[in-house]
Amino acid sequence: MTKTLFTNIGSLVMPAAEVGVLETLSNAAFVVEDGLVTWVGQADAAPSCDSFVDVAGKCVIPGFVDSHAHLMFAGSREQEFEARMAGVAYSAGGIKTTVAKTRAASDQELRDNAQKLISEFYQSGVTHFEIKSGYGLDVETEVRSLKIAREFTEDTTFLGAHVVPAEQDPDAYVELVSTTMLDAVQPYAKWIDVFCDRGAFTLAQTRKVLEAGIAQGLLPRLHANQLENLGAIALAVELDCASVDHCTHLSDKDIEMLASSNTVATLLPGAEFSTRSDYPDAKKLFAAGVAVALATDCNPGSSFTTSMPFCIAVAVRDMGFTIDQAVWSATRGGALALRDSSRGTLSVGSRADFAILDAPNHLFLAYRPGVQLVTSTYVAGKKVYGR
Ligand code: NIG
Ligand code: FE
Repeated sequence: MTKTLFTNIGSLVMPAAEVGVLETLSNAAFVVEDGLVTWVGQADAAPSCDSFVDVAGKCVIPGFVDSHAHLMFAGSREQEFEARMAGVAYSAGGIKTTVAKTRAASDQELRDNAQKLISEFYQSGVTHFEIKSGYGLDVETEVRSLKIAREFTEDTTFLGAHVVPAEQDPDAYVELVSTTMLDAVQPYAKWIDVFCDRGAFTLAQTRKVLEAGIAQGLLPRLHANQLENLGAIALAVELDCASVDHCTHLSDKDIEMLASSNTVATLLPGAEFSTRSDYPDAKKLFAAGVAVALATDCNPGSSFTTSMPFCIAVAVRDMGFTIDQAVWSATRGGALALRDSSRGTLSVGSRADFAILDAPNHLFLAYRPGVQLVTSTYVAGKKVYGR
């Protein structure tokens, strides 16, 4: 087994188990063997290895874990974005424009679009990602979407309940999603998700779809409280959702419930940024002890970004995160939102998924917004991007 030493690391960032806390080690090194980290410590105490990579004093962070991404779609909606910037409000209805384009796309077009976005993920330091369906909204296209998503990640999410497709009765559609569509996608999906919000699904419809998914062995997660608070946090906690995503509108009671649960609150700065909406206050969540994740929400409607550093910068600038909390949430928090303990940090036994930054420390991720600081990205010890 080949042992590779990554050495001369100016600052090695190791997100701790405690929410929001980063440990850092200067003059550090680590050893990668068979895709895993097998040793971490001071560079001058490193064991002998078969090969080494000199990081030249740069900062190394664990790869970002993007726990919320809608990569199975075709087309784009830049005119909708342009109109929003001129004052038009965001509504869930825009999803239907993408549905028409996605249904018309071939498998290869869907695959190529996802592949292009995944290359962008690697460039931004994302090393693991979830992929949702939800732009098919018919049995055939939801199955196609999830089959293709499986080619790229084990974390595939069935989001048949994204919106009610045009000209369909809402309750009849919920019935279809919870029975025939669920049966057909089940082999390709690990998670089940519902958009519980104004213009999408009610609390009762959400419960029905999630319970049907759980009965088929899928694990629940939720889109909720983006546009309005329909009371979905109590349901998410009751059903032990791994994560409830958006959380733009939360009551104090919601925050208390999240704090005493195993449900992560996933915040999506790109969505508020791109819909010109008010940002949630992360300070309140951290003060209450809620576990928080940051994700890109990459999708053609409300957040067409693959850049986790951009999300970190916005989270720090506008959502009340400290830089340490933002980096923790984009790494260990994302892994927690996928209930995955093998990712999101760099310690002995974790996957050798990491990014090298052209910066002396991780503070630069927020301090230098919009700058390409990631110089290379590694998944399981192999370079997937960079020089
Ligand atoms: O997470 N909120 C629901 N789904 C997406 C938006 C999808 C779209 O507008 O196309 C989101 O923001
Ligand atoms: Fe989303």
